[in-house]
This record gives sequence, C-alpha cells and structure tokens, in this order.
Amino acid sequence: MKRILVTYATMAGSTVEVARAVGEEIARSDVQVDVLPLGEVESLAGYDGVVVGGPMIMGWHRAALGFLKKHRKTLQRIPLAVFVMAMSLTQPGETSVDGMPVYVDDRLPKDPFRPGRLTFRERYARLSNYLRPILAAVRPARPATIGIFGGRLEYGRLKWWAVLFATVIIQAPAGDRRNWPAIRSWAAGLPVALQLEAPPATTPPLFMSGQRIRQGSQAPADKSAA
Ligand SMILES: Cc1cc2nc3c(=O)[nH]c(=O)nc-3n(C[C@H](O)[C@H](O)[C@H](O)COP(=O)(O)O)c2cc1C
Repeated sequence: MKRILVTYATMAGSTVEVARAVGEEIARSDVQVDVLPLGEVESLAGYDGVVVGGPMIMGWHRAALGFLKKHRKTLQRIPLAVFVMAMSLTQPGETSVDGMPVYVDDRLPKDPFRPGRLTFRERYARLSNYLRPILAAVRPARPATIGIFGGRLEYGRLKWWAVLFATVIIQAPAGDRRNWPAIRSWAAGLPVALQLEAPPATTPPLFMSGQRIRQGSQAPADKSAA
C-alpha cells in the first residue's frame, strides 16, 4: 500500500486540525497516511508522497521552510504538496506564481483598496510574495500542488509581539476563517495530484462550441436553446 506523510508546523495550534482533515481526505483512497508534526519526522524514507503545511507567520513558518530545504534533494524523487494558512491575501489578479497554478480558498482574497496602487500591507500580502520563498526552498523540485486557505487568529493565545505584528501588518480581525469545504476539496485531489492514483475518467462536456450536445439517456435538448 502507498504511504503518504502529512506534516505540519504551527504556532497557535489551528494548523494541526487542518493537517488532520487533509489526512482524513487522503485516507479515503487506498493510501496509508501518517499525520505528524515536523519535529517528529526523522526521515522521508518509505513515503510515496509528502504534504507539508504551515501558517504564514511573518513569512511561511520558518520550520516548514527549513524542512523543505533540509529535504530538498529527496523531494526531487517524492511528489510534494504544500498548504499555507493565512489571514490576509491581496487579490490583484494573481492565480499562479512563477507558472505554478495555486488553489486559492475563495473566501480569503480581498481586492486592493485602489487597484494599481497597492499599499505596503497589500503588497506584502500578495500571493507571489508569500509563495516565492517556498518555491525557492524546494527548487529544483516543484510542488505538485499548492493550496492557500484562511486560518485562525486568536489574540488571547499569542505573545505581545505576535499580537502587535498581526494587528499592525496583517490587520486581520480575530476569528476562525478556516474554510473546511475548500480544504477538504483540495485534499481530496491529492492522491491524484501526487500520482498515487489515476485521474478519474472525464465525462464529455454538455456544451461544446456553443452547441448543445445530448448525453446518454437525457431528454432531447430544448429546441429554443439550440
Ligand atoms: C505573529 C503572526 C504573524 C502572522 N503573519 C501572517 C502573515 O504574514 N500573513 C497572513 O496572512 N497571516 C499571518 N498570520 C496569521 C496566521 O497565519 C494564522 O492565524 C494561522 O492560521 C495561524 O496558524 P496556527 O494556529 O497553526 O499557528 C500571522 C499570525 C501571527 C500570530
């Protein structure tokens, strides 16, 4: 049986539950899943795929970046997926970074106040600014997929300097913005993205070149729409 490692970094604990949900979705396929904090991973030997997750903490969590750098060589052989938790994302129209398409939680991005004239904070919170260091840490390998999702921020759990950074730079209100359907939907695609499972056969489109095409036993198309 194929084995997948889901490993995570966290500061205040909310990424742990996300890693577990990702592990549960992967385990629906015929795959054995280990969900472990980064510090408990001694080696990647025996794994057929690796998922590394972590929150943005003034850049992607340092331990998660360090993990990618440490295993950079091995990750040229083993497919990798990455997930990023964040409370602030500027959406100036980016859907990919350096040619790499990114799965973005649609509840997370916020339009800039004045498109074309981003503030310091809006520039900081761009997808490319968040993800480029991750891509650089693992180069020449490339993640098979990257997902970015809303996280959880609870000021009561944080030290004073963390509260200061989060209020001044992130300017995110406290709360739980984890979008479980988006997280689970991304995770459900991982066995295919990590090449542990063949993609499902695609169904032919119902509409092609503006013409309505009938499928199987469906009722004839409405003539007025043809
Ligand atoms: C000190 C600090 C820095 C943060 N930096 C960022 C950031 O740069 N961008 C962002 O979108 N969210 C940022 N966040 C929000 C966290 O990424 C978010 O709360 C995450 O879900 C925390 O995960 P955890 O509970 O596993 O630590 C920051 C939070 C803290 C406390």
